[in-house]
Amino acid sequence: MYGKPLASVSAQRLVSVVFASHLIACSAAGQTNLPAPATDYPAADGPGEVLQAGEPVAAAVITAQIKKGLEKRAAERKKAGNPRPYIRGAHPKAHGCLKANVQIEPTLPSALSVGVYQPGKKYCSWVRFLNSNENPDRPDTDKDGRGMAIKLLNIDGKTLLERDSSAATQDFIMISHPVFFINSVDDYVGVIRKVNSDSFLDKLLLPFSLGIRGTWNAYQITSLKNRNPLAARYWSMVPYQLGLGANAVATKFMAQPCGYSGWTGQEKEAISDPEIPSGAGPDFLRQALKDALDKEAPCMELLVQVRKPGMSVEDAKTEWVSDPSWWDKLVGNEVAPFVKIATLRFPENQNFDTPEQNLACEDMSYSPWHALPEHKPLGVLNRLRKVIYRDISSFRHSNNLVDPMEPPAFQLDQCGAGEWQ
Ligand code: HEM
Repeated sequence: MYGKPLASVSAQRLVSVVFASHLIACSAAGQTNLPAPATDYPAADGPGEVLQAGEPVAAAVITAQIKKGLEKRAAERKKAGNPRPYIRGAHPKAHGCLKANVQIEPTLPSALSVGVYQPGKKYCSWVRFLNSNENPDRPDTDKDGRGMAIKLLNIDGKTLLERDSSAATQDFIMISHPVFFINSVDDYVGVIRKVNSDSFLDKLLLPFSLGIRGTWNAYQITSLKNRNPLAARYWSMVPYQLGLGANAVATKFMAQPCGYSGWTGQEKEAISDPEIPSGAGPDFLRQALKDALDKEAPCMELLVQVRKPGMSVEDAKTEWVSDPSWWDKLVGNEVAPFVKIATLRFPENQNFDTPEQNLACEDMSYSPWHALPEHKPLGVLNRLRKVIYRDISSFRHSNNLVDPMEPPAFQLDQCGAGEWQ
């Protein structure tokens, strides 16, 4: 990277943000043979949703281009004899898939007691901790976005992704920053054109496609340090419905260490800008999980915020204020506080780093659309994700010659009465 101009460095970083890696080759604008749009593209019929022109076609184009990128990487991995040459379409590096016992708050207000949020209800879950970057071999010591994906098992009811509607799983997918860097199909096309171009000028102009806010968000998402995946905060970034019909509202969710709200400023600072331990290896976040589980049963909590008037469902670049700054107070911005909805306890001494469990982790598929209708994913990014995640998951599993089992079959028999045995 030495001596690379800033624009080029920031362009490289952008492509590592959440999913942008897949868009490198995605020349939607220049493409003449567009793939057929998905026929089961979701309707924009939830609270605050507005359909943008060309969404179903954009979803098909992005999917096709992600596949191209995966093929390229698979060729290298096949040569190296990797048992899973086809990796995830984004966030391929896992620090581990851990078991967690989830309990919904016993005293939840009735307005929030909807769908899987039934007061006192217990669920077994698989929690995958991950890096954002598209390179599965990138060292954890490099700054990056981090992620956390929770899969509740044995929920009641049919879910929205038709292929897996009887799987009884509800997924919560989060990244370590509250906002995304793109929120429209037009933005995609502008970014794709430039990231995909060989022209230096196009790379130089990339920030103009994202705008100031998008560029800033992208920089922030990828600039995070992390000392321990269990000591971090993760946001849904995009909204999800809560409820059905006229009673439905829009919400966002977030995960954080138990008791975070009562921490001192210094304690909060220690996890938002932590010192990376000296001598940390390339996979030190996996080791950090093991060390934490050796000491205790770590605890995290899941929270939701309910949208207030004026907060946009479609604009994923703007945060819904939960903790008002002096400015928010001065200008009277609406505040949507986060409310604790569930506790996650990770059974201590669980030995998650076994070859079998790591393969099972690789084979899991998370999707925002593994969701009850009461938790329908909202907004343009979530609508796109329905067909993209499903098709990419099918693609990687069929090419890896494994069954895309949903729910994951691995140790499913060890979940009884909502708790891991
Ligand atoms: C249109 C926008 C997006 C696209 C095209 C996209 C694409 C993808 C793809 C293809 C996968 C891999 C699916 C698989 O192989 O099974 C994935 C996984 C993931 N995405 Fe996105 N994504 C988008 C938006 C987001 C947003 C807004 C978030 C914010 C939370 C996010 C967070 C994640 C995470 C955490 C995973 C890993 C899930 C796992 O552990 O399996 N993505 N994304």
